[in-house]
Amino acid sequence: MSMATIIGGVASTHVPAIGKAIAEGKQKDPYWQPFFQGFDYVHYWLAREKFDVAVIFYNDHGLNFFLDKLPTFAIGAAREYRNEDEGWGIPVSRSVPGDPELSWHLINALVADEFDMTVCQEMLIDHAVTIPMTLMWPGEKWPVKIVPISINTVQHPLPSLSRCLKLGRAVGRALKSYPQDRRVMIVGTGRLSHQLDGKRAGFINKEFDLLCLDKIVNEPEELARYSIHDWVELAGAQGVEFLNWMAMRGALSESVKEVHRNYHIPISNTAAATVVLENESKPARLAA
Ligand code: DHB
Ligand code: FE
Repeated sequence: MSMATIIGGVASTHVPAIGKAIAEGKQKDPYWQPFFQGFDYVHYWLAREKFDVAVIFYNDHGLNFFLDKLPTFAIGAAREYRNEDEGWGIPVSRSVPGDPELSWHLINALVADEFDMTVCQEMLIDHAVTIPMTLMWPGEKWPVKIVPISINTVQHPLPSLSRCLKLGRAVGRALKSYPQDRRVMIVGTGRLSHQLDGKRAGFINKEFDLLCLDKIVNEPEELARYSIHDWVELAGAQGVEFLNWMAMRGALSESVKEVHRNYHIPISNTAAATVVLENESKPARLAA
């Protein structure tokens, strides 16, 4: 029987300064090397697993939505997603192909499952999609189509950690009912602890980050108990980007295997982490 299969997930930071470092070829500089090296395993894993589609949970930072209209959850249904100059001084990214058929399957399934998504038939993607794509596939061509799902981590009230975990679970269920062959990976971008503004600008909480990295693997429910206000206190105002990680985790199987982890401080104002999780009973890729 053909059907979509979820193989695993990647969590990646999305700091724009990474785009500048890549443009300037600084991957081996002492500041950047411990971070970029954390993607060596990811490259190996992606080359081995050969995905068709990446479902990407991220947060838009004002490129596609602004404070006047900001959906809690939005999903793309476009044939192609474009980036535009966001003002970070990094090159505008190439466009990313979409998978509208799969998007519409997810939209129908999610709404039937009582997740009232904002549907975007056109959608600009910002650095929170393009930086992780560039890190995962540094070559000339990106081999996957994407379904972007954006979560409001910008303007309060934000969805709870628990709600984002449930959104991810609904996406996982919806993917499993897709009647066509697709090898699917789930991506969650952003974070760990960081705060870009105010009195606590530069705030990082390593102890809490390490707890999150441990718990996200097989005890995400424990993280789901924190309120958003407690999370801001513990992880910084932008640490709430972890909502994207919660959704990614929800889409995976109940128990997963952590096959890779890299944690590095600092990248710009953040603690940067790269994690690869594999679904249990992941089917082996058939020899071509
Ligand atoms: C930085 C971090 C972010 O999450 C972001 O969206 C933009 C910038 C930073 O640390 O520079
Ligand atoms: Fe961000």
